[in-house]
Amino acid sequence: MQIEDPNAPTVFELIGGAEKLREMVDRFYDLMDLEPEFAGIRALHPASLDNARDKTCWFLSGWSGGPNLYIERFGHPRLRARHLPFPIGISERDQWLRCMAWAMEDVGLPEDLRKRLMHAFFQTADWMRNKPE
Ligand code: HEM
Repeated sequence: MQIEDPNAPTVFELIGGAEKLREMVDRFYDLMDLEPEFAGIRALHPASLDNARDKTCWFLSGWSGGPNLYIERFGHPRLRARHLPFPIGISERDQWLRCMAWAMEDVGLPEDLRKRLMHAFFQTADWMRNKPE
């Protein structure tokens, strides 16, 4: 068993806190909006991405060990249930992950942190799949 060092910085701190997280999430949705390779997942979202920007930012704040902004507002995220209205397969999962990898690189997160986050995002995104292909 591995005991976590209670003094180790959280991923939220490693990212650079609330401001940097917002920058990353904004870049993620800007890329989703702009890049043709993400048109598939863009089309699942409403015309305005404002809501998704705020909610993803609040969610990732708590998920990364920072303030639990999403849970304070909405309670348990029930993320898989909330994504059931959207058909998510391998292609949608991979578009989401690629878009996030790109955003993290654009805002200048260090490579070791990006790798660590990608590993964690993969688990969450893969768990969100709700159709076979
Ligand atoms: C796997 C592919 C994914 C697709 C196609 C997808 C798509 C969507 C869509 C269409 C919405 C609704 C946006 C709106 O109503 O404005 C949404 C909401 C959301 N997504 Fe995803 N998503 C994916 C993965 C993820 C992952 C991996 C995370 C977190 C790590 C995440 C976090 C959220 C959050 C926090 C919301 C807001 C939920 C709420 O309504 O309270 N999503 N997503």
